Amino acid sequence: MLTTLSVQLLFLFNPVNSVLQQLYCTIADSCNCDFKPNIKGLEWDLYRNLYGQHLVQDIVSEEVAKFLQNKNPDRPLVLSFNGPSGTGKTLVSSMLGNHLYGSAMSSPYVHQFVPTLHFPLPDRVKQYREDLKSWVQGNLTECARSVFFFDEMEKMPPGVVDVLEPFLGPSHVVFRTNYRKAIYVFIGTTGEEVITRVALENRQAGRDREEIKLHDLQEALAQTVHNSSTSGFFNSSIIQQRLITRFVPFLPLCRHHVERCVRSQLCSQGLCSRDDVVEAVGGAMTYTPFQGHYFSSTGCKAVTAKINLFL
Ligand SMILES: Nc1ncnc2c1ncn2[C@@H]1O[C@H](COP(=O)(O)OP(=O)(O)O)[C@@H](O)[C@H]1O
Ligand SMILES: [Mg+2]
Repeated sequence: MLTTLSVQLLFLFNPVNSVLQQLYCTIADSCNCDFKPNIKGLEWDLYRNLYGQHLVQDIVSEEVAKFLQNKNPDRPLVLSFNGPSGTGKTLVSSMLGNHLYGSAMSSPYVHQFVPTLHFPLPDRVKQYREDLKSWVQGNLTECARSVFFFDEMEKMPPGVVDVLEPFLGPSHVVFRTNYRKAIYVFIGTTGEEVITRVALENRQAGRDREEIKLHDLQEALAQTVHNSSTSGFFNSSIIQQRLITRFVPFLPLCRHHVERCVRSQLCSQGLCSRDDVVEAVGGAMTYTPFQGHYFSSTGCKAVTAKINLFL
């Protein structure tokens, strides 16, 4: 005779039930995927802990809030983070992970792809495309609210991410997958010249950094990413069909931003009062262009190593 518990267990592990569960996942908001977005927390984190990136603060807060408020989005949220090294792209990715799942990259529903690790060989594109497609599809079946980060896009062999096209648009049907609730973030340095040029012209015209507007950059970034053979999106139909919801430009950082990075790092070590180290590290970084020395060439990236030199 079956006890109540074993009946329950039988029900839980019944393959028919598993199919039902998957079916439910295709329709429901989210399955068991522990999705607990904290939009206010994300906005606060971006406002407090990301320096010199007003466009990023505005676009990321706005797009994520808009996307999550819509119970039935007709397409996933697709962001492209572009900008020079050390300006906060990876930092914002972990903020996103943290405020969507509470555990950043360690959540089983936050997936990170790094080309040098996952797609290192250009002659294996066909295989990578198949792997990536079934990986994404499998994960969306598990959790409609999956988040996918593609870092270092400039090292992605051309053609790989194109396989995601059916998942990114509004009109395709991906069988048994509620693909419209996912978030994709493509991260790379492609377009940094365009962004830096706009920032430089703005600076030379004596205008505030905050006066740089998104529409100055949006179309130029789309074109650069599409036309650059090392963007991971070379001639990509994802760009042609405008499947990227927003390009998110990360501006080059100035000396006072770098000094904020230094101070914040020092404070986390209980050394808030070391103005001498803040000044010394700020002075030890390389700034470009030669005339003006406006922007740190490594953003805040080398800060930790430099602090250790002056402590
Ligand atoms: N705009 C910023 N505001 C605050 N910290 C920053 C900023 N940009 C970079 N950092 C810090 O500098 C280091 C490198 O930043 P990261 O996000 O990895 O840069 P990348 O844009 O190359 O991904 C990290 O410790 C990060 O916290
Ligand atoms: Mg990075």
